[in-house]
Amino acid sequence: MANSSSGKWWENATVYQIYPKSFFDSNGDGIGDIEGVRRKLGYIKSLGVDIIWLCPYLKSPQADNGYDVSDYYEIDPIFGNKEDLRKLIDECHATGLRFVMDMVTNHSSDEHEWFKKARAGDEKYMDYYYFKDPVDGREPNNWESIFGGSAWEYVPSLNKYYLHLFHRKQPDLNWTNPEVVDNVVRVMKYWGEFGVDGFRLDAINYLYKDPAFPSVETRPGQKYGFGGQYYSSKPQVNEYFARLNRDVFTPFDMMTVAEVGDMDPERAREYCGKYQPEIDMVYMYDMLNFDQEGYDKFKPVPFEVKKFKETIFRWQDEFRDVGRMALFLSNHDQTRNVGRFGDDSPRYRYRSSQAQALAMYMLKGTPYIYQGEELAMSFLDYEKIEDFNDIEVEFTYGEKVVKGGEPFEKWLRLYNTRSRDIGRSPMQWDDSENAGFSTGKPWQKVNGEYVKVNVAAEDKDPASTLNFYRKLLPLRKTLKSVQYGSVTPFDYDSESTFCYVREYEDEVTVCRSNLTARRTRTPLPEGEYEILLSNTGRSGRLSGSIELMPYEALLAIRK
Ligand code: GLC
Ligand code: CA
Repeated sequence: MANSSSGKWWENATVYQIYPKSFFDSNGDGIGDIEGVRRKLGYIKSLGVDIIWLCPYLKSPQADNGYDVSDYYEIDPIFGNKEDLRKLIDECHATGLRFVMDMVTNHSSDEHEWFKKARAGDEKYMDYYYFKDPVDGREPNNWESIFGGSAWEYVPSLNKYYLHLFHRKQPDLNWTNPEVVDNVVRVMKYWGEFGVDGFRLDAINYLYKDPAFPSVETRPGQKYGFGGQYYSSKPQVNEYFARLNRDVFTPFDMMTVAEVGDMDPERAREYCGKYQPEIDMVYMYDMLNFDQEGYDKFKPVPFEVKKFKETIFRWQDEFRDVGRMALFLSNHDQTRNVGRFGDDSPRYRYRSSQAQALAMYMLKGTPYIYQGEELAMSFLDYEKIEDFNDIEVEFTYGEKVVKGGEPFEKWLRLYNTRSRDIGRSPMQWDDSENAGFSTGKPWQKVNGEYVKVNVAAEDKDPASTLNFYRKLLPLRKTLKSVQYGSVTPFDYDSESTFCYVREYEDEVTVCRSNLTARRTRTPLPEGEYEILLSNTGRSGRLSGSIELMPYEALLAIRK
């Protein structure tokens, strides 16, 4: 079904996601910062994006790199101060960029004032979180934390457990307590007044937990199990959204994007349809997880083009007339797409990443480009466990290698190709020391590929992925069929190509990507087409079937 314009300011926008810790360090302490982002606004503008989403920079002990906030009104000094943020936001606005803030309110840090008081036994604040009595001398139930182990942490002085769906340093806030909701509204208003243009709402479908906290069935031999059926995407969450929308999102004319985990397309249709109009779009965490066993990213299965198509087109179909989806290939929680879904060898790195980008970003929805993706940054080459930082690595290393005796080499390979650290290695600006990211010692090791894969080198190379993104993203905006049109796959049974037609009124565009190194013949829907974008130097007119070269990407419009 073809939609027409909603007239919202963000409607045809493209988002660039920045992980501030790893983007650019302005003062040589090895940690990327807010001023570093400001200094790179010219680069960001050159990509043709409209909005930046900056990952968390509020005060935090950094157990989960800022996704554990200890003060919602202060900036963490490692990132700078409010003056720096003021300058960044003002300069964004002056150059026509908008600024979206990452808002983490499913949980706070355990070092937040509220939690410190709660842990000291202050009942008012205990009710800001979920404190429960032991059951038979054990955890209140058998829910598993998303980062591994029990979702409950024992506090001996209280003889109670508290709930943490994520890390133990991220206690879940109790949204059934109206005071908590009032506090969140106050925080959001504060940043709205400060000038942020929207929020990315972290882990937001987990806000409501079944008050009975029932245990779940576990897999054989497992102590804990995924409790999502009791806390994921409950209808009560929509009531919270209605409140936030009324008090904050609408009055400040914000763009909002809800991160939603563990959701299949059918449920998402039902659920996200109901988000509207409280939330503008949803960021489906699960869209790319088809190359692993269930929720276990460390059990990868080989990439198949057909599975990729099946998954993506199913999401597209469910969202054809409800909601709006985020389109993405990578983020700070995912590995790098070029190696994951393609070929990061020197021969095909550019082309392969370009074919993926064309396949994804001409679909219906809002593109979210993650820093470094536009360079085709890829897997890590770390050798020591100390090179990694993420809590998922820490947990699995302890369980599998230290306790379980599994070979370190096996896990090292997994960490270099699947872990969250991959997306968090410093941005590669040039081939100087530390990839031009910092003059100090980077908080996380630079990926050795930086000598070849970096902004300065790609800037000069007309065939680079960077220059391909610079053409692709602005092009999207000139095409009505891409903004509003229907999506119809073709050549669907092919094991190599990712092809679809976008159609709106009398405009018809076709997207064809070969996601493999095999040459392959693809048909072309009826008519004569003019090529708008190619990664192999093809130009001019097309009709009938053609043979696509390895990792060829082609966008054409009907004449
Ligand atoms: C989201 C974030 C992730 C974080 C988690 C807990 O999934 O993207 O980085 O660890 O929420 O806040
Ligand atoms: Ca710094």
